Amino acid sequence: MASANLNIMIKAARKAGRSLVKDFREVENLQVSVKGAGDFVTRADREAERIIKEDLRGARPNYGWIGEETGEEAGEDPTRRWIVDPLDGTTNFLHGLPHWAVSIALEYKGEIVAAVVYDAAKDEMFTAEKGDGAFVNDRRIRVSGRRQMIESIFATGVPFGGRGTLPATIRDLSRLMPVTAGVRRWGAASLDLAYVASGRFDGYWERGIKSWDVAAGILLVKEAGGFVESIRSEENPIESGSIVAGNAQLFEPFAEIIRSRD
Ligand code: IPD
Repeated sequence: MASANLNIMIKAARKAGRSLVKDFREVENLQVSVKGAGDFVTRADREAERIIKEDLRGARPNYGWIGEETGEEAGEDPTRRWIVDPLDGTTNFLHGLPHWAVSIALEYKGEIVAAVVYDAAKDEMFTAEKGDGAFVNDRRIRVSGRRQMIESIFATGVPFGGRGTLPATIRDLSRLMPVTAGVRRWGAASLDLAYVASGRFDGYWERGIKSWDVAAGILLVKEAGGFVESIRSEENPIESGSIVAGNAQLFEPFAEIIRSRD
């Protein structure tokens, strides 16, 4: 049974998702003027964060907060904080592409203990709690069981503007493409991880990522039986800005390729 905290997170994600879906329909009409659509998306994004913050901070006023739009706020309880991306996949949203999500994680003593990634356009609610498994719309999910790189699909991302990570990612691609079934770059890190958790992708990696993009997805993958580490294995993937995730069988060979030049 979901904890009270997870229920609060699910409710907030649904509410924000509803507001975003309404705005998404508008943005599809606004595509003719990308600048206009850009301003509109910024407002949609802020409104979604406002909705989530009101719910989460209203229910747990003593927890800390970090959100993509409103930044960091310490709480009276220094051990717990919400990590929130109200709209992961902003560029997809801006272009009318239905691949974006609300991402909410609860961190306790530096570890993610509850996670929600809500793909509102497809009404897929990915959830996990530490020790209780991972789910989509209440159905249990597991990472894939694929054992061969050549039959596996991997996802990656490139942060806006490259953030200096592009040469390394291009090197990764040139090494991975010939030995796998392919690489996807779909533009929403939280969903890349949710798709690894549900066995749709076999692995995911990215350099230059932010904590709010990956915090919830990290727990989804772990609770679905997969592995998640920072590309530099000694670092914490939530804070280090780099991540490699995969199913249990392929994690080692996959991570070795990604790490071979780091
Ligand atoms: C971005 C997406 C994208 C990833 C970038 C992120 P945003 O998040 O998750 O897939 O490659 O690194 O910044 O800006 O759309 O919330």
